[in-house]
This record gives sequence, C-alpha cells and structure tokens, in this order.
Amino acid sequence: MKFDTPATTNPIDQLKVVGQPVDRIDGRLKTTGTAPYAYDRFDVVANQAYGYVVGSAIAKGRIVSMDLSAAKAAPGVITIVTAQNAGKLGKGSLNVARLLGGPDIQHYHQAIAVVVAETFEQARAAAALMRVEYARSKGTYDLAASKDKSVAADSFNAPGATSIGNFTGALASAPVQLDATYSTAHESHSMMEPHASVAAWDGDRLTVWTSNQMIAWTVGDLAKTLGIAKEKVRVMSPYVGGGFGAKLFLRSDALMAALAARAARRPVKVALQRALIPNNTVHRSATIQRVRIGATRDGQITAIGHESWSGNLQGGGLEAGAIQTRALYAGANRMTSNRLALLDLPEANAMRAPNEAPGLAVLEIAIDEMAEKLGMDPVEFRIRNDTQVVPDYPSKPSSSNDPQSKKPEEQKKPNPHPPFSKRQLVQCLQTGAQRFGWDKRNPRPGQVRDGQWLIGMGVASAFRDNLVTKSAARVRLDGRGNLMVETDMTDIGTGSYTIIAQTAAEMMGLPLQKVTVRLGDSSFPVSCGSGGQWGGNSSTSGVYAACMKLREAVARQAGFGVEEATFADGQVRSGSRAVALADVAGSRGMVAEDMIEFSDLDKQYQQSTFGAHFVEVAVDIATGETRVRRMLAVCAAGRILNPKTARSQVIGGMTMGVGAALMESLAVDARHGFFVNHDLAGYEVPVHADIPHQEVIFLDETDPISSPMKAKGVGELGICGAAAAVANAVYNATGVRVRDYPITLDKLI
Ligand code: MOS
Repeated sequence: MKFDTPATTNPIDQLKVVGQPVDRIDGRLKTTGTAPYAYDRFDVVANQAYGYVVGSAIAKGRIVSMDLSAAKAAPGVITIVTAQNAGKLGKGSLNVARLLGGPDIQHYHQAIAVVVAETFEQARAAAALMRVEYARSKGTYDLAASKDKSVAADSFNAPGATSIGNFTGALASAPVQLDATYSTAHESHSMMEPHASVAAWDGDRLTVWTSNQMIAWTVGDLAKTLGIAKEKVRVMSPYVGGGFGAKLFLRSDALMAALAARAARRPVKVALQRALIPNNTVHRSATIQRVRIGATRDGQITAIGHESWSGNLQGGGLEAGAIQTRALYAGANRMTSNRLALLDLPEANAMRAPNEAPGLAVLEIAIDEMAEKLGMDPVEFRIRNDTQVVPDYPSKPSSSNDPQSKKPEEQKKPNPHPPFSKRQLVQCLQTGAQRFGWDKRNPRPGQVRDGQWLIGMGVASAFRDNLVTKSAARVRLDGRGNLMVETDMTDIGTGSYTIIAQTAAEMMGLPLQKVTVRLGDSSFPVSCGSGGQWGGNSSTSGVYAACMKLREAVARQAGFGVEEATFADGQVRSGSRAVALADVAGSRGMVAEDMIEFSDLDKQYQQSTFGAHFVEVAVDIATGETRVRRMLAVCAAGRILNPKTARSQVIGGMTMGVGAALMESLAVDARHGFFVNHDLAGYEVPVHADIPHQEVIFLDETDPISSPMKAKGVGELGICGAAAAVANAVYNATGVRVRDYPITLDKLI
C-alpha cells in the first residue's frame, strides 16, 4: 500500500481498541524474568559452548604477536578465534570499525579474539592467559583539541551547514545579544540487557538468536561480513532488554558467536561483559556547541546561529547538535553548522534521540539565557518566536531511511520552507505552564528556600522529527477466528507487541485476546524495525496495510462488496447479513501480506513532534547535590496508539534527560584513548525512583499526513529538551549557570 495522500476516515478511527491504555502483552514475561532473552536461549539448540570476547588493550596501533599456547591448554578450551584464523572477513556497511580487529587496531577494546570453552568461567580464565604484544601509535582523543581540524559533515540528507539572510550583520545590529559555548559529554547507552547472541550453523546456514533493534540490517551486515548470501542467514530477536540505539547495528557479540560456532563446529553463545561494552561497541559522542542569538528588545529573534562539533572514527557520522535549530524558532537571519572531528575513540553512533537530544540540551539553555537578558518569561519568549513553517532547510531525513540503500542523488529536493503537518508547541507550553504552576516560579534565581534546599523551576521545548519508513507484515486468520500477525519488527521495551495487536484487532473487528503477535524473526516480512522513534507509527501502518488486504479477501470470500463490508464482534457484515470470520476463513484459513510505503507527502510537509518540559529541582545549599522533585512533559505527537505505553516511553526519555543533565559522562583517558568508567559502577544513570513525580500529558492530536494510523513517533520525544529543563531549573534555584554537562555538584559550589 502506497501512502501518498492524507489519510481519510478509516477503521482505526473507531478507536475501540487502538487508543486504549492496554497493558503490555509482554509485561508479565518481562517483569517475572521469564521472557526468553538471547543469552537464555538454551532451548533452541543443544550443546552450546561459551565464547568470551577479548578486547584490545590499546586504542591505536597493531598487534605484534599473540601467544595463545597457555590459553589453548587451559581446562575446557575448545578453540580461539582471532583475525589470523577467522578467514577472510568483510565489513558490514553500517559498521564504522571492524568488529574483529588485528593486526591493526582501530580503537580500545576492539575485539581481537573470542575464546570458546565448555563453560563461561573456563573461557574467561583462558582469556586471561593470552599474551598479546602491541605496538602503540599516537592517537587523537580530545574533541576540544581536534575541533579546529573538523570538517562540515552532512547527516542523512540534510546538509552540514545552512545559511539564511545575513546572520552576522543581523546579530551585530541586534539590541540584545547572546554568544555562549556549551558542551555535552560522551555518553553510554547502558541498556539493561547486554549485547548477547547464540549462533548455530547447519551446513552453510547460520542462525543467530540475538538482541537487536533492526533485524534486516543485521542480516545484511552479518552476511556481508561473513561473505555469505543473505538468504543463508536467519536472525531472531523476539525480546530485547533495551537498545537505546546500541543495538541498531550488528555488533561483535553476534559476529564473534558466528565465527566461534563455525570454528568450534557447535553452537556458541556470547554475551559482551559489561565492562567491555562502552569501549567495544558504541557511544554518543560528546559535543561542543556555540549558540548566538540576536533579538529586538521586545523579544523577537532576528538572528540565530548554532554550531556543533562532535567526534568519530574515520568513516563515522556526526552528532548533529545544530539540526533542530533550523526548525524550532522563527528568525529571518540564521546559520547552522555541524562539524565532525576525527578521533581515535571507539565508534560514536546513534543513541537515545541522536542530534536533537544533545542539540536541545544546549539550544534550550541558550533560549533561557536570552529570555533572562530580555527580562522576559522563558515560556513567553518561546511562544513569541513560534513559527508555522520551517524557517531554514528542513532537518528531516527522507522517508527511505534505510542507510544500506540510501543514495542522496536519488532523493528529490524538498520544499525549502515546508509547513509543519501539525505543530502545537505553543499549546504544549501553555498547557504545561498552567498544569505545573509555572506562575509560582520566582524569575530571580537563588531566592526560594526549603530548609537546606534551594528550589528552582525550569522549562524547555521538546522537538523531534517524525520519520516514517516502509514496513511489511503478514496476517493469518484461522478457522477459529484467531488472527496471527507476523513481522520482523522488534519490541525493545517500547510496547510494539501491544500496539500491533491493538491495530490488528481494530482492523479486523476482533477482541484483543484473539490476536497473537510474533516479532523479531528475519523469516517474517521486513518491517521498519525500532529506531529513531519511527517504529510505532511505521510498523502499525504496515499491519494496517496487511489487514486492509485481509479485509478485502474476507469480504470477497463472504460474497460482500469490499466497500460495504464492516468488521465488528468477530464478524464481517454487509447490510443485514453477517458471517463469523471463523466461518469465512474455514479450516484452510486465510493469509494476507502487504507493505506500507511512504512517498512524497513527507517531503511536502515537515513532520515533527513537539512538547514542553517543566522541571522543579532542589539543590543542597551546602553540597550542591541536585534532586529532581517534579517533572511534567506535555507532548503533541499525533494520535497516541496506547497512552500507557506512550507514557512509559516519555517517562523513560525524561529520566534519560535527567541522566544527561546531572550524571552521565564517559571520562576519557586522553593519554591512552579509552573511556575509563566503562561499567555501571562508574557510569551513573538515574532511575525512575530518583524522581518522585513524573507526569505526561498528551494533547489531543491526529496527523493524517503522517500515516493511515494518524500517529507519529513519540518514543524519543521525551528525552529531547529534558536535560535543558533540568539545567534551567538548577540555574533558577542557584543562580549558577553551568554550560558544561553533566551538572555535577563540583560545578555548583
Ligand atoms: Mo534510536 S538512538 O535510533 O535506537
């Protein structure tokens, strides 16, 4: 099904099942520890051996020699795979560094071996007996020092730099000006379930049970790396204990398990040990960002400029911190630039709303600072500078955001100033201010005390693009009126199982209990996968398309006109006649499969999601410790398919925003080029229990431009802007403006 005209009234609009706060179908499995995660899959193949991945002890250079004799002779050891005996390997098109290093080393903890043994402990003990000699070369590890050698870099199909009007002139002549530089830290995804895989070969066919967000990408890259046909690879990932972007791509656990299983001639399971993950896999790059704003005395922005620098290995992409500044506020004269510096740190890649999360963390402090200079309320200042069209080059990638097939020259030039399909930023700010009690905020910082605590309130806008991606599904109706949905979509803790079941139930007029959803298997139709908050809207649209086909087939089979047939209470009806779906399907059952494809609609409109964050903090007057007391997010993100799962997503994002604001930071050892605090003891993340009150309000919105579901992404909106709202609250509490995240207590006293 091609989605190329705005959605009209359709079966989803009944909202009998869709839109209800249904509990997560997989909730009980997950909370009772019975969801079968990849590493727990003892049931799928017998005789599994254990692989232990060894990471490079240097960041850059090469392996001079490896002595494996003691390790090979250790108890229980079956084999050791290194670059020397692994056979010829390619590189996945989505991987920046090779997943098995040697003799050349590209980053610290790059995998150099997998030791395979009968037990995990034996593999780990043997790994400690490996003797590796390295020749270290000089690397570059400091973003600030490398900034001047950076280059402008594009992200997706958006250009690295943009310029509108005369920014420099307008800034210079503006009566009120801001010029401030900020930084955000290197951050680690830190999802609960580590990267883990079980691999088994059957002749030349490989099956991998793993933990992954994008099944089809991973099949492609495994095949490419191993030099085998895609058809020979099956990947399964039905349950994922968090991904946050770290599991968008093939990682070393799956490749090393496949190589180890081939060498050992038996199935091998590999979980990356926690202390290996931050340096072996991916992280979000630190950024340095400069924001300049000029405004009239009554608060109209006349010039806005945002420059962002981030770092990565050769061939890696950037963290485009300036990108949302093209679309969020009005202003006739503007410039943005996203620049990339080469660093020899581990690969930087997508993490928890890449671009907008660190971008808004900075922009929304700058807006707060500007409002203060103007003597304006920061909510009012934002409303004052609202825009209903994109003032600069759209930041939105095209709908075909499969990087394996992306060729920029194939993409049409979009309208340079498209209208937003829906934009309720002002309503989010107003609703939030009212519900939060913003009028009680003292605009003068450092004035409000509660015993030992200084109290402050902060606000920030939330903004995240709404991406849409083709997505396929198959639906089967059986002779008892049960419906089975199959798609390789993943549920990374987001609620995919549940909203897909709700969609299918609504479409076919069935109760939820009659619908079974099977996900995360590459033998199912290829879906959009989970990432970039495109998953919920796109995958349910794919299910919508498949169900439309099934409805047609059922109506025909029942002898009804396709247009007249309605589906309710397990029956298909036309006029006064009704037939049970079970009877129509009969003993042979009926199957339909289809794919939703998005076309030019999303180039005529800017599709984005909006929100407003309100935060109250308390800062200890003696120690500088910050506690978040209350958070409220108001979101406008199209139709909310399930308010319970959507709320959980937004609350998760808000909590991540608190992490970015107050604690998360990978510390770089600038001599040896690695992240020092590479485990959950040294890398701190907040949990829900750290924040007593978190509330989410969804504005009533449907977006017919976005999809037949009229929904949009919401999974990543909650983190965008949240860090700045915390930072602004800390400033309001203390009068100390911290421009370098995270705002640890040493920066406040
Ligand atoms: Mo998301 S960082 O695209 O999984």
